[in-house]
Amino acid sequence: MRNEKEAIAEAAKKLLLANRRTVAGHTFTIPSPYEYRHQWLWDSCFHAIVLRHFDINAAEGELKSLLASQHRDGMIPHESKYSLFGTLLPFTSRVTQPPFAARAAWDVYSKGKNKEFLKEIFPKLEAYHNWLRKHREEGNVLKVVESDESGEDNSVLWDDIYKIPIHKFTYLRWFATYVPMFPQWAIIKSAKATSIYADAVDCMAQISRAVGQLKAARAYDKRKRAITAAMRKLFRAEDGLLYSTTMRNKHITYKTNSIFAPLFSGTFTRKEAKTCVEDHLVNEKEFWTPYAIPTVSISERKFSAGGYWRGPMWININWMLHRGLLRYGFKTVAAELLEKTVAAVKKSGFREYYNPITGAGIGAKQFGWSTLVADMILDKQQGFK
Ligand code: GLC
Repeated sequence: MRNEKEAIAEAAKKLLLANRRTVAGHTFTIPSPYEYRHQWLWDSCFHAIVLRHFDINAAEGELKSLLASQHRDGMIPHESKYSLFGTLLPFTSRVTQPPFAARAAWDVYSKGKNKEFLKEIFPKLEAYHNWLRKHREEGNVLKVVESDESGEDNSVLWDDIYKIPIHKFTYLRWFATYVPMFPQWAIIKSAKATSIYADAVDCMAQISRAVGQLKAARAYDKRKRAITAAMRKLFRAEDGLLYSTTMRNKHITYKTNSIFAPLFSGTFTRKEAKTCVEDHLVNEKEFWTPYAIPTVSISERKFSAGGYWRGPMWININWMLHRGLLRYGFKTVAAELLEKTVAAVKKSGFREYYNPITGAGIGAKQFGWSTLVADMILDKQQGFK
């Protein structure tokens, strides 16, 4: 009899393939048929990472369609809107999202081994990384110019910058995200975006090597070292954790899921990783809830079990953490995290996010990136890195 995890992987495949749409010659996966009927940067990267297990052409196509909306200067917008009637509107946002494109490309290539695909997208990935370097790097760490760009639109990390309570539809954010020339002033130096970036730069080094660009590979290796050093210097606070800062280099010390991002990029030493995992992750008073992990520690005054990016469990965050745990050899904790994630999906299906205490599903239904639980299952079984 098929076990529960195989059934979840099968359901993930069905969901992703059902969420694929072809509009104006672009085939991509929408996050949910009920909401979010466009293309988003990190969603597409996550969709490609899962799709590679089931349909390698679809996974490659997902990334190619994402890169088709790249701006002339190299920027990949966080959102690209296609009209419902099939015309491609010149409507993309003016912010990016966590730079997962190189990670997704490397994972898809690691599975399909299609060098032509990698060669085709390499110049576009390079252009994106050059754009990030020019427009988002500051002293070797990554700036995020407003909360939409972090992907965690409503995160508490911005509360003291916006100074007003923000929520999903704050007009100022909308202007900063979509309207050309509107000032973008809610800028932070992000420990989490920089971790994702450091990993992406690593992937760029591997991709460069795979397509025979050895000089570029060496340059990316060097960048990774510079980024890691800068992260440790700027973001590290007295408690040993890495926190984002304001532009004036003041730590923003709310305990959010971001404190685990350095596991993903390998920025912690083994000892630091152990302290972080033992003191904070598997701590029932902070992040180890029945359906872990909450986006914000339950010890924070701002924690809200149903608040958008302010407490619930999101599966893309669990996926990142799962990889980070395996990277440092925390196999048991990683297995437990997978069980908690599986339990939420079993209870509530593939929802946008989950109450971390009850496992109740919240937000959009049939939500694409929640299928990352299948990557957590299959990646472990098949040993991809
Ligand atoms: C919401 C999320 C964002 C995501 C988008 C599409 O805006 O906050 O991270 O990319 O929905 O799923």
